[in-house]
Amino acid sequence: MTSEALQKARDYEERYSAFIRSEDRPVFHLSPRIGWMNDPNGFSLYQGKYHLFYQYHPYSTQWGPMHWGHVISEDMLRWTYLPAAIAPDQEYDKSGCFSGSALELDDGRQLLMYTGVRENRAEDGTRKAYQTQCMAIGDGLDYEKCGCNPVLAQKDIPAGFSLNDFRDPKIFRNSDGSYGCVLGNRTEDGSGAILLYTSDDGMNWRFVTILDRSYNEYGKMWECPDFFALDGSHVLLTSPQDMSQVGLEFHNGNGTVCLIGSFDRQKRQFERQRLQAVDYGIDFYAPTTILTPDGRRVMIGWMQNWDACQNAGRKDLLWYGQMSLPRELFLRSGRLYQRPIRELEEHRSRRVSYENVRVDGELRLPGVEGRMVDMEITIRPAPGCVYHKFEIRFMEDERFFTKLSYRPHESILRIDRKFSGSRRAYIHQRRALVPNRGGELKLRMILDRYSVEVFLNDGEQTVTATVLTDLSATGISFFAEGQVEMDIDKYDLFQEVSREKV
Ligand code: FRU
Repeated sequence: MTSEALQKARDYEERYSAFIRSEDRPVFHLSPRIGWMNDPNGFSLYQGKYHLFYQYHPYSTQWGPMHWGHVISEDMLRWTYLPAAIAPDQEYDKSGCFSGSALELDDGRQLLMYTGVRENRAEDGTRKAYQTQCMAIGDGLDYEKCGCNPVLAQKDIPAGFSLNDFRDPKIFRNSDGSYGCVLGNRTEDGSGAILLYTSDDGMNWRFVTILDRSYNEYGKMWECPDFFALDGSHVLLTSPQDMSQVGLEFHNGNGTVCLIGSFDRQKRQFERQRLQAVDYGIDFYAPTTILTPDGRRVMIGWMQNWDACQNAGRKDLLWYGQMSLPRELFLRSGRLYQRPIRELEEHRSRRVSYENVRVDGELRLPGVEGRMVDMEITIRPAPGCVYHKFEIRFMEDERFFTKLSYRPHESILRIDRKFSGSRRAYIHQRRALVPNRGGELKLRMILDRYSVEVFLNDGEQTVTATVLTDLSATGISFFAEGQVEMDIDKYDLFQEVSREKV
């Protein structure tokens, strides 16, 4: 039975999303059907199709009582909207259905595991939120919340860990058929931790161990964990709140951390060996992964940042929030690498390519422009020369541009959207340490209408940002202080979509 709250959301999105023109949305990055979107949830394969759910407040472009929006796709790039999947309509989730995950059950049904939030006002007027883990089961369209909810509650939290911050279950299947689940939590001093639970049937859960903790080094509450094997190691992803900066590796505020180590299931022990940021740009948070049938570990993240999203949206758009491109993950020399899913290459057209172009001052190249673009660039100092700075300006017109610059002698790469036309003084730039390898730098830059994602040195680092500049700003230009030699391969993306619209 569809509850009143869910029906209301479904009616609302059906009626009002019709007012959003597809020209006003990103083309191959997911945006909400209408209203507000944050974390990706339930990224999973069900009956041969990719399903993605998202934290959703259909009624405004601000965060509000959380529902789960729902889309499906065959290629993780072109998504079809389905009706909202769940709404806050039970006592245990009356304040919101927070983030979670999904999988296909052996009996052919789809299981959603999410955090139910129940906020109560105490006698002294203060509010306390309780977070418990809940299940909903469905057919890929409609879901029934389970009578046994919540399946994980305060009594299941080990002593010394927070009874209030307990959220974002990522469920997975072990090779012996049992289920595992990682959850975000924090210790009494407020510092983040990831708890591991296990279950034989997916409904009755037992606490196993604390996989890792922040020890107040890498932020406070650890949100949205994911845990998986990758290239012979184990990877734990989490998104910490309230980080204070660590050099240029981690910036202040909400961040994303990748912990790489080994996991001994018998000893119930994750041993962290290395740690790094997942993304070095402005807008990337709460990533989650899927294992594709052909064995790729693919990650998608919320392409926003809590500190940059207040009032930052364009008031004329009826949606707010985008997902990143799905990215294939792999480990190389102990680091997490990312590359855009290979399906994207099928949407490349109109190749424009230049080799050994000299950049000395400002340069524009015929055929190099656009707002939906896949561009591979390699730069090096021109023979016998040096350069101090190399810069690419994009989404450019007479007034606006966003830029990416690299100063090899400082090993610093900077993204800067100060001149993108935003009307608020929110976060506009970020710097990353990018090793100077003789001044050589390789980058792949993907532009969609309202975002840029940069994959540096074959995916060793990524830099992601949203850019809301008016779509008429399509220019791309290059600039060097000193003498740079550049190779460039530029493709248009998704021209088939644009053609349809003409
Ligand atoms: C992360 C997060 C999650 C929570 C959700 C609420 O962005 O804070 O921890 O489940 O958003 O919308």
